[in-house]
Amino acid sequence: MSLLELDGVKVHFPVKKGILFDRTVGHVYAVDGISLKVEAGQTYGLVGESGCGKTTLGRAVLRLVDVTDGSVVLDGTDVAKLPEKELRSFRRRLQMVFQDPLGSLNPRQNIESILSEGMAAHGIGANQEERRERIREILAKVGLPANALSRYPHEFSGGQRQRIGIARALVLEPDLIICDEPVSALDVSIQAQVINLLEELQESMGLTYLVIAHDLAVVRHISDVIGVMYLGSLVEEAPSDSLYEEPLHPYTRALMSAVPVPDPEVEERRERILLHGDLPSPANPPAGCRFHTRCPWAQPKCSEERPELTDAGGGHKVACHFTREIQDGTLTPAGSDAVVIPAQAEAPAEETAKEPEPAAPESGEAAESGDTSATASEDVSEDVSEDK
Ligand SMILES: Nc1ncnc2c1ncn2[C@@H]1O[C@H](COP(=O)(O)OP(=O)(O)O)[C@@H](O)[C@H]1O
Ligand code: SF4
Ligand SMILES: [Mg+2]
Repeated sequence: MSLLELDGVKVHFPVKKGILFDRTVGHVYAVDGISLKVEAGQTYGLVGESGCGKTTLGRAVLRLVDVTDGSVVLDGTDVAKLPEKELRSFRRRLQMVFQDPLGSLNPRQNIESILSEGMAAHGIGANQEERRERIREILAKVGLPANALSRYPHEFSGGQRQRIGIARALVLEPDLIICDEPVSALDVSIQAQVINLLEELQESMGLTYLVIAHDLAVVRHISDVIGVMYLGSLVEEAPSDSLYEEPLHPYTRALMSAVPVPDPEVEERRERILLHGDLPSPANPPAGCRFHTRCPWAQPKCSEERPELTDAGGGHKVACHFTREIQDGTLTPAGSDAVVIPAQAEAPAEETAKEPEPAAPESGEAAESGDTSATASEDVSEDVSEDK
């Protein structure tokens, strides 16, 4: 049995209207039938653009929102069926690291107080002295000095605050840590440090993660399995290497083509899929394949029948009616106004040199959007002692 098993999880939020009578006039289909498994000691990376339902799924696992349908089973226990009293102690086993480290830390509490609060509530450590000892150990593990204990969140840089957020989860000795966009509020230069830290901690402490991100580049190295989400459901799921070597779903290929490649020659020749339009509203999702309004390969069948997530071999699952035809090139892109610039062969053929150049750099830049422009100098100094 896997540590975490989600089966057909749906979270639908009612849309209410009216002042006197709260009428339900529709639903936001934030999560609409997700099944996945997270193995103990591994990392499951969940990616998809903003608004596709990633955070809602994370909150459903923690039972911070009610599941409309389906089950969330952690280590054999159905989280949705736990009575309120048992849920409180069960929650220790599931911890979350948030996107915004400052917003998730109480500014009026010092670090010791922030970290020991949950420990005391869950009966970890016989007394404050024992808890302090444990906190010191964890602070060292996440790369913060022991004198951080008496300091306040505002005294730390963004990267350090996220280390505090990770420490707060670790002191409770959880079975599973859900990291929701753990680095997207951080300066680019700090992102890799925090991801590396998560990876080191996993190795030394045997942790299990569900890492949520809107950026494929963030989950790439840390994940064993990656699930790609679009409008509330998974469109592709595969072992990380397999997904990167051969992305099968058109949406995954589009996401991947937005990630710049460091090698300029490869960068120049690789496939680019530029999607048009925004994510459709989850309150009114398209019929059939939910991606058909933006898919360059869409066919009439795509707007009628919803494709199931099926194994295309070796545990590489994809939800598309035309996976094989797209892969072998018998179906060519024409379905929407999205632009597909195919990967180019290495030959320096004169006649193929008329490529629409200006489109290229933009997709690379778009992939990095979402990062704040916090000054690197503030963040790079990972030394708390600078203030005193
Ligand atoms: N409590 C809520 N009530 C109504 N709609 C919500 C609620 N929480 C999230 N949503 C909607 O559900 C959709 C998915 O949101 P979210 O899970 O935050 O996506 P992501 O984390 O992928 O950006 C969005 O359209 C969002 O507006
Ligand atoms: S080809 Fe059809 S089924 Fe496949 S992703 Fe595109 S719209 Fe969906
Ligand atoms: Mg989110």
